[in-house]
Amino acid sequence: MSKRLQVGIIGAGRMGKIHAATLAFHAPEAEPLAIADLDREAAREVAERCGIPVVAGCAEDILGDPRIEAVVVCSPTDTHAGMVTMAAQRGKHIFCEKPIAHGLAKIDAALAAVEQAGVKLQVGFNRRFDASFARVRQAVASGEIGTPHLLHIVSRDPAPPPLSYIGHSGGIFLDMTIHDFDMARFLIGDEVQEVYTAAAVRVDPAIEAAGDLDTALIVLRFGGGAIGSIDNSRRAVYGYDQRVEVFGSEGAIATSNCYPNQASISTAAAVRRDLPLHFFKERYADSFVNELRAFVETVVHDKPVPVTGADGRIPVVMALAARLSHDQHRPVRLSEIEGDQAAASPKPYA
Ligand SMILES: NC(=O)c1ccc[n+]([C@@H]2O[C@H](COP(=O)([O-])OP(=O)(O)OC[C@H]3O[C@@H](n4cnc5c(N)ncnc54)[C@H](O)[C@@H]3O)[C@@H](O)[C@H]2O)c1
Repeated sequence: MSKRLQVGIIGAGRMGKIHAATLAFHAPEAEPLAIADLDREAAREVAERCGIPVVAGCAEDILGDPRIEAVVVCSPTDTHAGMVTMAAQRGKHIFCEKPIAHGLAKIDAALAAVEQAGVKLQVGFNRRFDASFARVRQAVASGEIGTPHLLHIVSRDPAPPPLSYIGHSGGIFLDMTIHDFDMARFLIGDEVQEVYTAAAVRVDPAIEAAGDLDTALIVLRFGGGAIGSIDNSRRAVYGYDQRVEVFGSEGAIATSNCYPNQASISTAAAVRRDLPLHFFKERYADSFVNELRAFVETVVHDKPVPVTGADGRIPVVMALAARLSHDQHRPVRLSEIEGDQAAASPKPYA
């Protein structure tokens, strides 16, 4: 391997821009060598800003470049599984944005290619790298709050994405709740066995016309007995609302929203503060840097991958179960989604 990890970025949209900047300015052991986007102009703009020497109009140019040792896949979700497979077959390590795909057959084919090639694959569940959520995990893992009994995740976006995005997003559970499914597993350190969903369209009827939902409450039953809830909305008028609480036998730990400043304004009418950091780019800025630095370190120093292909797959099973639960108005066990495999597989946190 060359001195600095030579990385190619696929996709120069919202996530491509974030990851390109991390590789260029915050990951000294990596060098972003190339960036590709079907919209070559978008790739060129990011390349110019981040000092990336090679600009390409298609992913194949990156996947076929023997100088590139690792790829960061930030193209739309329906391209991920194919990109992961091709990158693995060319011996490149892979960081892939969430989710790997909307269906298990595609995910399994991609993971088989990764396994066969012996390359590393990290999935983009960035919230694990947020300092507050990591502290919650630490409190649970160390026994600081005893045995976890209840988990509450509040995860509300400031505004729905454009309808054009919703159409190919895979729906709220695969696109948005997927982060919360990952958080649930990560924070409790246990697998969810059953989900029950109550969901509706409360924000915009156009979302219903597009076949999706915008408001959901999902109850989770963990194998070890803990019970969880995920509370989602596509529109919180006061901004990005991202909070968790774990309640256990010896206490509780909770996180609050993050704000652009600590000022409070007092008048005769009220005491108030500014709105929370607006959306994911602002709220999770540090976690995006941390996750990609971790990926680079994993490859360069041959460390275990912090968010594996299996970690990418299970939240997709949970999302499919949540949708089935909504459609059939009943609790759904994860084993129903993938046969007996889920029940038989060892717990990654055991
Ligand atoms: N981790 C997170 O918090 C987070 C946040 C947003 C999006 N995402 C994920 O990141 C991925 C990208 O989302 P986004 O919001 O950046 O999308 P985007 O639409 O902003 O960007 C995608 C880019 O990929 C390009 N593209 C499309 N097909 C391509 C191909 N075959 N080869 C090369 N480039 C191609 C498009 O032209 C576009 O510029 C999605 O899978 C999404 O789920 C993750």
